[in-house]
Amino acid sequence: MTAQASDRLGVGIVGSGFIADFHTRAFRGVRDADVTAVCGRTESAVRAVCDLAREQRVGDPAAYADVRDMVRDPAVDAVWVTTPNHVRAETVRAITEEVSSGRASLRGIAIEKPLGRTVAEAAEVKRMVDEAGLLHGYLENQVFAPGVTRAHDLVWSRGAREAGSPYLARCAEEHNGPHKGWFWQGDKQGGGVLNDMMCHSVEAGRFLLTPPGVPASEWLTPVSVDATIAALKWSRPAYAEELMRRYGPEVDYRNRPAEDYARSTIVFRNGDGDEVVAEGTTSWSYVGAGLRLSFELLGPEYAMQVNSLDTEAKVFLSREVAGQAGEDLVEKQNAEGGLMPVLPDEAGAYGYTEEDRHMVTRFLDDRRPDEGLDDGLQVTRLLMAAYLSGQEGRRIDLTDTAQQAELDSFVPRVAQGTWKPGH
Ligand SMILES: NC(=O)c1ccc[n+]([C@@H]2O[C@H](COP(=O)([O-])OP(=O)(O)OC[C@H]3O[C@@H](n4cnc5c(N)ncnc54)[C@H](O)[C@@H]3O)[C@@H](O)[C@H]2O)c1
Repeated sequence: MTAQASDRLGVGIVGSGFIADFHTRAFRGVRDADVTAVCGRTESAVRAVCDLAREQRVGDPAAYADVRDMVRDPAVDAVWVTTPNHVRAETVRAITEEVSSGRASLRGIAIEKPLGRTVAEAAEVKRMVDEAGLLHGYLENQVFAPGVTRAHDLVWSRGAREAGSPYLARCAEEHNGPHKGWFWQGDKQGGGVLNDMMCHSVEAGRFLLTPPGVPASEWLTPVSVDATIAALKWSRPAYAEELMRRYGPEVDYRNRPAEDYARSTIVFRNGDGDEVVAEGTTSWSYVGAGLRLSFELLGPEYAMQVNSLDTEAKVFLSREVAGQAGEDLVEKQNAEGGLMPVLPDEAGAYGYTEEDRHMVTRFLDDRRPDEGLDDGLQVTRLLMAAYLSGQEGRRIDLTDTAQQAELDSFVPRVAQGTWKPGH
């Protein structure tokens, strides 16, 4: 049986860090796929993901150092791109060149958030994938999180059907800062927390405000974006020193800070002709048990809410217990004592499992996933509008064609290393 006719999908993961680990765990809940290859720059990290795949019994992957070699492997039918933002375009270029030249044959490509660091870069990534003729998925896990999708279904089928469509989505993602140096560097990552985490909240907001089964870009027309960015914690001298100690001189928040707080208010016109609003709040300056995701959707006679730290399981550790730092209770854990929430299945709760299942099923069925690179590009446009608003202190009118053209080539000051907090 050829790979094309198989009813199982062989998945190659490129990038062997934090999110590659999460996807590997998530594949435990995907019955018709195997992790057949892993590619990365560091041999030990690639080996660790391969070992994890075997331990979780989701595949017996081959290890690769070069993504071109990986996609030529006939056991690889689809690629999950999890390399850092600054190598996203070159990774996709290598994959699509192999496909276009006929050296590799793939059914689909799934790409982690954010799609690009700018509108131009995201559009380039989408163009390369389109030209290679591949099915594509945008890996925005939050719109697959079971709590979010179930509550979304219920408020639309019960609330909105009787009382009218929802008008306000509030989405937030907060933790105490990322785990690798490149995330903190505006040029490599594309900005600060706005680019890194507002991409989740913007897409979650679009998803919640849109009826189930309808593409968000058909239902919602962007009208305006108003945003604030700020450096609240990590550019204070003691914390800037701490970052430099952890990650080296490239992460210099005294001279080249990135925002660790961002808020955006996006106004849309929905398919009923009503004005609706998506609010997003994201921060790397949050102090709490660990990563906190929250979602709310409000309509005329109903509301839903999800908070990832409202867990059914909790543990209490008294002051007599001196625990070692870890992330065994919750992602980006901040404490090892007191009353702590426990997320027993983070890959499931955050949406990675359902996301991977959806992508695999669609690639096997030769159908485009519900979350595609066009969504990733739309999110990037809204994020860049938010940066423009935040750095210039004005509301961005997205109905204005001159404004849209400006966004096509816009690079945020944070990404250029020239942003001064307070401006
Ligand atoms: N959906 C989510 O919730 C979520 C969470 C974390 C990260 N992400 C996204 O996933 C991507 C990776 O983030 P991460 O946290 O895993 O980063 P990471 O730094 O932990 O891991 C990145 C991995 O890519 C490898 N790599 C770097 N350059 C490479 C290259 N040219 N070819 C192959 N491998 C290369 C690195 O060696 C490393 O193993 C980012 O785009 C990030 O925004 C998404």
